[in-house]
Amino acid sequence: AQPTVTLNNGITIPQLGLGVFRTKEGEETVDAVRWALEAGYRHIDTARAYNNEESVGQGMRESGVKRRDVFLTTKLWNQDVRDGRARDAFFESLDRLGTDYVDLYLIHWPANGWQKAWEQMEELYNERRIRAIGVSNFHRHHIEELRSFSDLTPAADQIESSPQFPNQELIDWDRSQGIAVEAWSPLGGTGGSLLDNPTVAAVAAKYGKSPAQAIIRWHLQRGVVVIPKSIHAERIRQNFDVFDFTLSDDDMHALSNLGINRRQGSDPDNFNF
Ligand code: A2P
Repeated sequence: AQPTVTLNNGITIPQLGLGVFRTKEGEETVDAVRWALEAGYRHIDTARAYNNEESVGQGMRESGVKRRDVFLTTKLWNQDVRDGRARDAFFESLDRLGTDYVDLYLIHWPANGWQKAWEQMEELYNERRIRAIGVSNFHRHHIEELRSFSDLTPAADQIESSPQFPNQELIDWDRSQGIAVEAWSPLGGTGGSLLDNPTVAAVAAKYGKSPAQAIIRWHLQRGVVVIPKSIHAERIRQNFDVFDFTLSDDDMHALSNLGINRRQGSDPDNFNF
């Protein structure tokens, strides 16, 4: 069985999923989702802002895997947060996905008005339209503010994390609060340079695995939920073939200490989209 993480409301999430940021609506997304589910993935992570929810839904249906056997995440976009229309935006996402619930719904960024969005999401959660609600790109101070007005602790915080930007302090704090951490750009994103890093390559070679597989393993062994993106069938399958080896403590340490410390995306305290 593939590893899962138990969220703070008792539901479980498969620890490895397919991410579809920058995967194009249409055949590209339909194929990627179908290939992933055929390879054994049971977790797909999309967002309103990725503009591919319809294709995600189509790929899920074409795979023949039952809806209830797939953990599906989508996210509320910033403009909908600012416009105070979390509830309507959520139902629009459901329509595009062609489903009547999502497993995890996240506030994509702490855009102005996110506090009101959270209250609307709590209602949807209480109406059982969402199995768990959470946040993305929230710093500790955002979550502390959230808890000053809400009794519901976010189930997850999806943040940038990879060996080039481990983000370990926030991960440790989130987890001390019972918040599961999900890593975006887990392979270092589109730049590709992390996958060419000589330390990563050397660690991977010891196990007869690829750099991507070694990095995915690093995330899994840290207890983080990891959602690598690929549009290629063989890479999608390769990224799921990571349950037959274990990185040593020394190799975990080596990947945690590449010393790059460079974000690939925006700092949640400084974004303008
Ligand atoms: P592609 O979709 O062309 O396969 P992240 O998940 O950190 O955002 O990074 C994903 C990036 O790494 C994408 O550009 C993806 O490109 C590439 N990628 C994903 N899996 C692999 C792999 N197994 N080997 C090499 N590159 C990969």
